[in-house]
Amino acid sequence: MTRAGGEERVPVARFEAQEVLVKLNVNGADVEVDDRFAASPLLWVLRDVLGMRGTKYGCGIGYCAACTVLIDGRNTKSCQTPAGSAVAKSITTVEGAAGPVIDAVREAWHQRNVVQCGYCQPGQTLAAAALLENDRSPDDAAIARWMNGNLCRCGTYPRIRDAIGQAAETLAAGRVPERLDTVPELEMQPLTPEEMADPVHPYVRIHEDGTVVIYSNQIEMGQGVHTGLATIVAEELDADFASVRVVNAANGAKPDGGDVYGTPAGGGFIQLTGASTSTNGFWGSYRLVAAKARARLVAAAAQAWGVPAEEVGIDSGIVRHPSGMRAGFGELAARAGKLAVPDDVRPKDPGQYRLIGREGRLRVDTRGKILGTTRFVIDVTHPGMLTAIVLHPPKFGATPTAVDDSAALAEPGVTAVVRIDDGIAVVGETFDDAQRGLHALRVDWDEQSAERRSSEELLAEHRRLVESGEQAVVAREDGDVAAALAAAAHAVDAIYELPYLAHAPMEPNNAVCRMGDDGILEVWVGTEGPTYARMAASAAAGISEDQVRVHVPFAGGSFGLHSTSGHDPNSEAVQVARALDWKHPVKLQSLREEELKSGRYRAMAVHRVRAGADAQGRLTAFHQQIAAEPTSPNMPLAVNFLFKDGVDYMTTSGAVDGPYALPNFKLETTNVKTGVPIMVWRSVGNSHTEFARESAIDELAAAAGRDPADLRRDLLADNPRTLRALDLAAEQGGWGTPLPEGRARGIACSNFLSHSAQVTEISLDRRNRVRIEKVTFALDCGVIINPDLIRAQVEGGLVFALGAAVWGEVVLGDGGEIITQSFDRYPIMRMQSVPQIEVLLIESGEPPTGVGEVSVPTAAPALTNAIFAATGTRIRRLPVSKTIRVV
Ligand code: FES
Ligand code: FES
Repeated sequence: MTRAGGEERVPVARFEAQEVLVKLNVNGADVEVDDRFAASPLLWVLRDVLGMRGTKYGCGIGYCAACTVLIDGRNTKSCQTPAGSAVAKSITTVEGAAGPVIDAVREAWHQRNVVQCGYCQPGQTLAAAALLENDRSPDDAAIARWMNGNLCRCGTYPRIRDAIGQAAETLAAGRVPERLDTVPELEMQPLTPEEMADPVHPYVRIHEDGTVVIYSNQIEMGQGVHTGLATIVAEELDADFASVRVVNAANGAKPDGGDVYGTPAGGGFIQLTGASTSTNGFWGSYRLVAAKARARLVAAAAQAWGVPAEEVGIDSGIVRHPSGMRAGFGELAARAGKLAVPDDVRPKDPGQYRLIGREGRLRVDTRGKILGTTRFVIDVTHPGMLTAIVLHPPKFGATPTAVDDSAALAEPGVTAVVRIDDGIAVVGETFDDAQRGLHALRVDWDEQSAERRSSEELLAEHRRLVESGEQAVVAREDGDVAAALAAAAHAVDAIYELPYLAHAPMEPNNAVCRMGDDGILEVWVGTEGPTYARMAASAAAGISEDQVRVHVPFAGGSFGLHSTSGHDPNSEAVQVARALDWKHPVKLQSLREEELKSGRYRAMAVHRVRAGADAQGRLTAFHQQIAAEPTSPNMPLAVNFLFKDGVDYMTTSGAVDGPYALPNFKLETTNVKTGVPIMVWRSVGNSHTEFARESAIDELAAAAGRDPADLRRDLLADNPRTLRALDLAAEQGGWGTPLPEGRARGIACSNFLSHSAQVTEISLDRRNRVRIEKVTFALDCGVIINPDLIRAQVEGGLVFALGAAVWGEVVLGDGGEIITQSFDRYPIMRMQSVPQIEVLLIESGEPPTGVGEVSVPTAAPALTNAIFAATGTRIRRLPVSKTIRVV
């Protein structure tokens, strides 16, 4: 074994081909692989031996079906299929699937904007094709049954169901579907100093062929920001939307782009995608840049044609003059790029919009994600690259004392075992080699400094702190809450408990790094914070940040997981590559269980709420206390403005700035110290603070005999946007109208980034099991840029959050052992549990605000409020499945 730091040289043995071969038929072609892979999962033989990387790894234990291929036409989990068992069978992967059925599926997927991060979609489309080969007219129940095994962490199930229905109709009508073709990836070139200083080029460039390339300083991880920026830029440029391409601009930071893509933060610049701030934060700047680019094109045409600029117009990518002269963008791009930008450029008035706010916009990143050609980090390869898997400690903070790597190194294809900061890395020629080596590794751990409390014990400590008020800091105080509580005619005093939650994006943690001969270290990582990735890689490599170049391919989800420099997979990859003397590019690919063992969970949180109402049932006092591990200290730079005077905004968000005017309000927070790594999770603190508040308000309404929607309306008198959302959700969700026996509704409001309200309708079956029947969600997110993409984000957020509310819990067992390691113990919502979802968008002229997380905070309280209405049981501890079964 060698330690990170590179003191020891590790001999790397290349695999020598043997005589015996396994013969497979893949996509109609006969291929041979060495016999040593006969027992290897077909997934890894396809990916690492045959180089077919459209088939994805999600869990490796048969719980997600991201690895779906067709074997003799049946959808099959390739991670559970030894390659040798597929001999003499016909294997079809996403790369080779062809014919009218898969074409109809792909066309429907494209047209219905199914895709978000896209990581699961090759598997989803193959499973859908297998269904339609079996049953040409499946109903919704049949679709849900068939597709139930295919997980989608982005929650695209409602659209998958509808797309399968559309594909079935296409086939039934005998219509020839459009055959999707892929769009080649654009290679980004580093910016020259001149380009960096240009007002337009770092963000928007027009190529000679007329392609408009947008450099997005926000990372695409499924939330649709690329399509949002494409719409904004195409609108201001009057470009042909089809000509617009978007790339992640992670490489724009030092040294190639200075801080051009960063945002001032904490005394420095930080490039970070998070908190649903992309559109809100950058809509102004990208509109202006695009308007400047347009002005340049007009000026270039005027110059070339010798006409006044005022006479030049642009329509769908064609620059025109009334005399009949016309030119494409590409013809004018070079001339335009040399012109100064006029001073008086202004973005359009909303009345001139022809793209923004219109239906029918298709995502710009869909084709490759459907066809399996989109390159995620897991798909990055380099000649001579090795794959490393890290064994992390079984308890947070444990350290290895003795490592027996003899059996691991004896495994064919295992080339090294390397100790790194947070564990032991096993390095192999393929993932399967490294995985076999990892399973053969024997490690003794020193647990003296480990977190040895179980999650029950940690919860008890949170509860003790919140009840005692020990170490509490006042985050906000309005009026005299103690006096108001003492005078209340109706009161609630309740404790709400929320567990650790994992992000579990479909693409498990990974990173790739390569040291160049020029001393530049390149890293490929699906990070939300390229600035953090650069910091971590530079620290792990022992080189300056100027020597690090960060590439951010599409990320197979994130949900906040990749928002930090701590416990970062790219740091692990760099440590391994450094230990191997930089002789090999290294891919660090986590096992799903190792990703969950590296923590960075949504904080556990306990809230106590004491609320009071007067004799008329009007809320008069609200005292909320929180005990939770703080999140901001794990975010360098950002911590400087997110953590102030002992108050962590990532803990108190949603409570300190909620939607209601609370007449006497006090918020206290206690920062709990544990050894569990914490990170932001979709909707940050609002994921727990709003559960407590919306539950307590419901409880108070019940205690005072008031309608919970009416009680909220009292408090929203000065917040017309949230009030409008509440009224719309109530009206369309049937609030107050009669329901059949066994059905009930719950309601909740939020102003997390936007303004929203949700009505959730449930039913109880004869065995007292809950089914979530319908969610009606009203949203005011300012200017509606792409209505269908907003609806998709709301749907996905609801599926994500309802799954977490019902089943989500990371458990630390006795002694602090991390029990929850994969989807077998961390169930997420599957298609059969998905309710009907109606998303209502409210027209607004306000600037656009976030949509990627807005439906998360209200999902749990609207559900538990509905369960209370149906059963009289108040659920104060999540997940819901601890109290009542949900199907
Ligand atoms: S079921 Fe095969 S990777 Fe999850
Ligand atoms: S689109 Fe399914 S996991 Fe992201």
